[in-house]
Amino acid sequence: MDSQKHLFILLCLSLVPVLLLGQMDMQVEATRHLNHPSKKLFVFGDSYVDTGNTIKPISGSWRAPYGITFPRKPSGRFSDGIVLTDFLAKYLGLRSPIIHKLWYNNIVPEHDLKYGMNFAYGGTDITNSIAYVSVAGNDYYDYMAIDGSLSGFPSFIESVIKQTTTNLIHLQSLGFKRIVVGDLQPLGCLPQATAQNSFQSCNSTFNDLVALRNNLMKQSITKLNQETKDHTTFTILGLFDSFRSVLNHPSSHNIKERLKPCCIGVSDEYTYGSVDSEHTTNKYLVCENLESTFFWDQLHPTQAGWNDVYNELEKRGLHQILY
Ligand SMILES: *[C@@H]1O[C@H](CO)[C@@H](O)[C@H](O)[C@H]1NC(C)=O
Repeated sequence: MDSQKHLFILLCLSLVPVLLLGQMDMQVEATRHLNHPSKKLFVFGDSYVDTGNTIKPISGSWRAPYGITFPRKPSGRFSDGIVLTDFLAKYLGLRSPIIHKLWYNNIVPEHDLKYGMNFAYGGTDITNSIAYVSVAGNDYYDYMAIDGSLSGFPSFIESVIKQTTTNLIHLQSLGFKRIVVGDLQPLGCLPQATAQNSFQSCNSTFNDLVALRNNLMKQSITKLNQETKDHTTFTILGLFDSFRSVLNHPSSHNIKERLKPCCIGVSDEYTYGSVDSEHTTNKYLVCENLESTFFWDQLHPTQAGWNDVYNELEKRGLHQILY
């Protein structure tokens, strides 16, 4: 539990180092991909879109039972199978973004890699590329869960949005013409928040704050679009509504287990993916009905859950957002 929590704090601190890595990678990749499809997807963000960039020793995503559905072993994805990045890539007709293994080459100091960077597909010309930015909200979550002073939350939101906006402008200055920002999923529905009522119902206090945050982000995006002097467009990927839609109508998505996570440690001291000190006995339990369970762990959907969210996103006009 603790290491998991710790990890998420590390993962989501800031997008700034991610952007710097992105620049480096463009140079590295430029020499490698001379013949590549014209459309590319660059993904910046956190555990919701990571496909294996987090480093192995610290990340539960590199331990069983993560990846049990696909590729049937841990792949660094924070799920039993494929995640949002893979679905978006598939939609665009691209192979799932390659992970760049800069740390093997010691190009960047290892600690920079802890930020949950996900980097997609490089090339020289990024004007025809999509930058997808994921802000899965662990900073908000930590603020709400740890800090707790909800009265201070609006000003906290404002400062995070300000930083995010600066990062988006940075992406624009790098040459991206299409920048897609995922909005925040209903944090009050994550198992971490619903455990206190035995996974019976979402925490509406959290969700109201997330709605407030998403509204402010939307205003900021509108302003960016109005002020842009080139042809850059900023759009929002509606994760909040899509999550809500699936969770409010689980049966129409073949979801039987709505809020309770599939993978649970056998007791509080064990995280998902734990084994005992002899590395023999598994200290976690994996549910049997993975295909009809929405959440994989305390924070992340199962592959089935992502599939449902993706279908909702598609229904709500993925085409306008990505093309
Ligand atoms: C939501 O969670 C917070 C923090 O754990 C708690 O104080 C509050 O009572 C919860 N609200 C609801 C509606 O469950």
